[in-house]
Amino acid sequence: MICSAAPAKVILFGEHFVVKGKPAIVTAVNLYAKTCIMELESGKHLLISKQLRQETDLDKEHVPEQLAQFKRIYEIIYEKYGVIRGFKAIIDSDIPVSSGMGSSAATAVSFTHSLLRFLGVEFKLEDVNNIAYEAEKLVHGKPSGIDNTVSTFGGIIYYKRGYMEKLNVKWPQNLSLVVVDSGIKRNTGKVVMDVLERYERHEEIMKHIYVAAEQLVNKAKNLILSSRFYDLGELISINQSLLESIGVSIFETDRIIYAMIESGGLGAKISGAGRGGIVYGLFMENSLNNAIHRLKNIGYKPIIVKPVEKGVIEF
Ligand code: MEV
Repeated sequence: MICSAAPAKVILFGEHFVVKGKPAIVTAVNLYAKTCIMELESGKHLLISKQLRQETDLDKEHVPEQLAQFKRIYEIIYEKYGVIRGFKAIIDSDIPVSSGMGSSAATAVSFTHSLLRFLGVEFKLEDVNNIAYEAEKLVHGKPSGIDNTVSTFGGIIYYKRGYMEKLNVKWPQNLSLVVVDSGIKRNTGKVVMDVLERYERHEEIMKHIYVAAEQLVNKAKNLILSSRFYDLGELISINQSLLESIGVSIFETDRIIYAMIESGGLGAKISGAGRGGIVYGLFMENSLNNAIHRLKNIGYKPIIVKPVEKGVIEF
């Protein structure tokens, strides 16, 4: 049996702006999507998603919508490498679905990586990334490619369309990322389109917001490179205000953000497409218990995640 695991992500700065060519900073975190593939004598190509509770035969013309990205990956690999012997692929994931943690990209990356290993062909991580990006296009319409890139390569990444730079710094022991899922699911592709349409309607104003986002991300990058993580808090809050102005902030996520700030968070913002999904906050060790308690009290299930250096791995 061949198994691969690919990490989730938290976008620290710059989501949405990255769709229009501005930079963003993202980190891989320690939640994983895993795919295990075993050979099937019958020659069939079966796929089972435990998290989505769905299964399909990838050779069928129509597969359930949520599994279409895996059929796309299977077809790309078939076109590029030729006939694939029969298999059963089982996909499982700890990453909340449709919440902004890159669940679809991580499942695509883990499936692609394990299928290429199953085939026994030579490949580079770049190939995995490119194939997973094709699958992302099916799910999100106009993805920037940030999600599949971080899930493939891991670490903290400064990302622009067509450019990525790993920020080689050690995350401080006493600093935590707290993630809260608002529980409100939304369609990333739809939110991205709405933001782009708002941009078109008010370009003369919006272009300044996009430039501000770019300057903010570049400032955050310099702070991270000089290990001044504790100074990121205000930039996180400013980034949140920019997200508010492009129309992706809602009452429920604001409530979580204010609870995080009031309980000692250095900064907190939406991460991912917004209009629900997750919020992340940056916390020093000494305010963590207070924050967890407060967030639980208002009905949420905070999780503490850690940045991870590696992207997709064999396991
Ligand atoms: C989604 O994780 C992040 C967005 O910026 C969309 C994208 O970059 O493709 C909202």
